[in-house]
Amino acid sequence: MIKQAIIPLAGLGTRLLPLTSVFAKELLPINGKPGIEYILDECIEAGIKDVIFIISKKKIMIKNYFFNDYFYKRIIKKKKDPRIIKEYKKILKYKKMIKFVYQNKPLGTGDAVLKTKKFIKNKFFLMLLPDDLIVKKNCSKSMIKVHKRFKASVMASMNVDKKTVSRWGIFKLDKRLDKKNYSIKDVIEKPSTKTAPSNKAVIGRYILPKTIFAKLMDQKPGKGGEIHITDAIQSLLKEKNKIVAHNFSGKYLDCGSMNGYIKSTLEISKL
Ligand code: G1P
Repeated sequence: MIKQAIIPLAGLGTRLLPLTSVFAKELLPINGKPGIEYILDECIEAGIKDVIFIISKKKIMIKNYFFNDYFYKRIIKKKKDPRIIKEYKKILKYKKMIKFVYQNKPLGTGDAVLKTKKFIKNKFFLMLLPDDLIVKKNCSKSMIKVHKRFKASVMASMNVDKKTVSRWGIFKLDKRLDKKNYSIKDVIEKPSTKTAPSNKAVIGRYILPKTIFAKLMDQKPGKGGEIHITDAIQSLLKEKNKIVAHNFSGKYLDCGSMNGYIKSTLEISKL
């Protein structure tokens, strides 16, 4: 059963400067709604009950967004505006699901995951990277089905242009399991075009086993001096853990870059 999700939110968002110089990128509106709410809605629809936000002191604004009760109550008392009441109720619903942990040094996604160790209850959990929006079809929901079917860890996958492989984690495939799913042999964080084993990239949705924490505790920094989740997944694969790459059907929007962020608003407004 996948009931818990973790969301790393401590990233500085330098690719979105100047928008992120005083503002958390995950609160930036995409077609009138903060990006993080799309991610939370995906979780809720996929049956997730608990969400752990990994923030930093610099991103405390994210916590404030969900804990602004005094402000809302005062406004609602004065104005009784049904729209504001509805929005506040939605925020209360999110707030009930969320716990916060802190990663004050930007040491990488693997390090962020490690901060959630004592909160994970079940054998597997979901991780969503908030820069990666997937619309039109709920990717987390599909991946939970794949996890149940193959009794394995699952990672979202998408074919990318060969020239851009060094931007992503890249899979080395093992067997085709069916139309949308492959078992994988290896995964390499941001390889060069020459060394990349395929053009199938990791997109930010992962169903990971709790055993990954032990790998992360022993892990040395990798590319760019960061602790990468991809490297810990590679250790799991070496020990013959089954991991499935799921070619998701939704539409991917890269909200972590300026071009992608602008495009995402246009795409979502067409839905
Ligand atoms: C992270 C992962 C990478 C993955 C990507 C998907 O990279 O490390 O393996 O392909 O997310 O968006 P980042 O975007 O943090 O550089």
